[in-house]
Amino acid sequence: MRLDFEDADVIQLEGRQLTPSKAVAEDGSHLRTIAREAVADIEEKFADRLEINRDLSRSLVSFQANKSEPFYRWFKYREGFSKPLIEYFIEHSNVSGTANVLDPFAGTGATCFVANERGLAATAIELLPVGSNFIRLRQAIFGVEPAEISAWMHEIIEDRPWERTNGRISFSHLRITQDAFGPETDDALARYRFWVSKQPQPKKQFCDFLSYSILEEISYTRKDGQYLRWDYRSPRSKVRGKFDKGKIYTFDEAIISKAQSILYDLSKGSDDLLSKLNPSQAVSNITLFEGSNFEALEKIESASVDLVVTSPPYCNRYDYTRTYALELAYLGCSEEEIRRLRQALLSCTVENRPKDLQGVVSDSAIGKGVAAFEANDAIQASIRFLEGEAAAGALNNTGIVKMVRGYFTEMAIHIAQLARVMKPGGRIYLVNDNVRYNGLDLPVDCILSAFAEELGFRCEKIWILPMGKGNSSQQMKLHGRSELRKCVYIWERLPS
Ligand SMILES: C[S@@+](CC[C@H](N)C(=O)[O-])C[C@H]1O[C@@H](n2cnc3c(N)ncnc32)[C@H](O)[C@@H]1O
Repeated sequence: MRLDFEDADVIQLEGRQLTPSKAVAEDGSHLRTIAREAVADIEEKFADRLEINRDLSRSLVSFQANKSEPFYRWFKYREGFSKPLIEYFIEHSNVSGTANVLDPFAGTGATCFVANERGLAATAIELLPVGSNFIRLRQAIFGVEPAEISAWMHEIIEDRPWERTNGRISFSHLRITQDAFGPETDDALARYRFWVSKQPQPKKQFCDFLSYSILEEISYTRKDGQYLRWDYRSPRSKVRGKFDKGKIYTFDEAIISKAQSILYDLSKGSDDLLSKLNPSQAVSNITLFEGSNFEALEKIESASVDLVVTSPPYCNRYDYTRTYALELAYLGCSEEEIRRLRQALLSCTVENRPKDLQGVVSDSAIGKGVAAFEANDAIQASIRFLEGEAAAGALNNTGIVKMVRGYFTEMAIHIAQLARVMKPGGRIYLVNDNVRYNGLDLPVDCILSAFAEELGFRCEKIWILPMGKGNSSQQMKLHGRSELRKCVYIWERLPS
């Protein structure tokens, strides 16, 4: 069923229409109308804080800008922050030399590395070993002479020692990674891992990281948001269609190219990089919590954090445990461990079940967070609308209702936890995308900012990226096109 409506009360910003609002659906869809009105109201509330920031190009906000950054480009994390973006936030925040920086969804730890480079102490929380493996690597090579790392790289490039070993450590595949490599790649990777296992530390950890970081390049797979796509050349392609990922590198090509790029980073522009790796010149290290944000935040002292720079998962069904299945398998995660991790993710997939946070998070944070969630008309009306769509069989996956409810409840509790650990005057810079389900734009930016204002923060600004995000073609066909905002929220902790 197609709904056509005219926007009655549109927020205009620099001549751009930001949201369809207060529209009345022709079919009289009551729940949709109520949800749209509630969304329009909350957008009006934040209209004076919504501001397009032309400094924030899409490449600056994505991992792209790291392509030329030594060290940051060693592991490609699509969801990762670029180094210049974090520098931009730190400069904007005006924090001083003794500040504590926190990223509760740290991924590969970019926020914390940049903070460290500027002499700031940093704490990283990350659930998945995919990102924390890179943070641990950095800890392991902290203090190692770059000349030593260069020698390891030369050995890989010039000697290819794995070609002479007879031993093998095979890759233990998960169900969803089976047949990801051709037989020659499988064999070369197994020989390489055997050779690595015989090396002393920290060379062992570093060389192990090298093969870990090339898995996508040497496989038949490509990471694609919600899942892994399979190339038509793989044995699994019959069920997966005709996707061509382009060149699939041999193991030797990929590992040598990786070693060369690290060597290049160590030799060129090295003044900067050497000081980053050398502990005598870096002020502090990173405190890493490997686990969920909910558990880790409880261990952080009250009023101890000056600055949070973070990006939680978006409410967009992307499943990190599927897209990073190869890396998780490489790190030895079992099927059961993957299921546990998937459930522990901030609810952002249709498979997440409601979390029981009693006994994990303080009663106070749960109470305040749930109250902020329940008091928010925009999210409550949106959930009722989605429930109605699900009941009418109009939602392509009924798990979306559960995901949206879980996402916003959990984010409210998370914000309540952040309020406790932050110093008065401390700031949060949070990057997130708005989302749309069944033609309803969920203003994630305004809803989370309203939670923050309930929970002890002042929303200073919501910076909008100049280019909004497009739509899925399915959504566009059904509901027409309007822009989805990608934003950076800036919240200031008020005195308690
Ligand atoms: C958008 S990414 C952040 C990337 C990061 N800014 C970087 O530069 O690499 C969100 C991260 O949150 C992590 N995550 C999801 N749920 C989590 C949870 N409950 N606790 C801690 N981390 C979680 C994901 O594994 C993912 O790495």
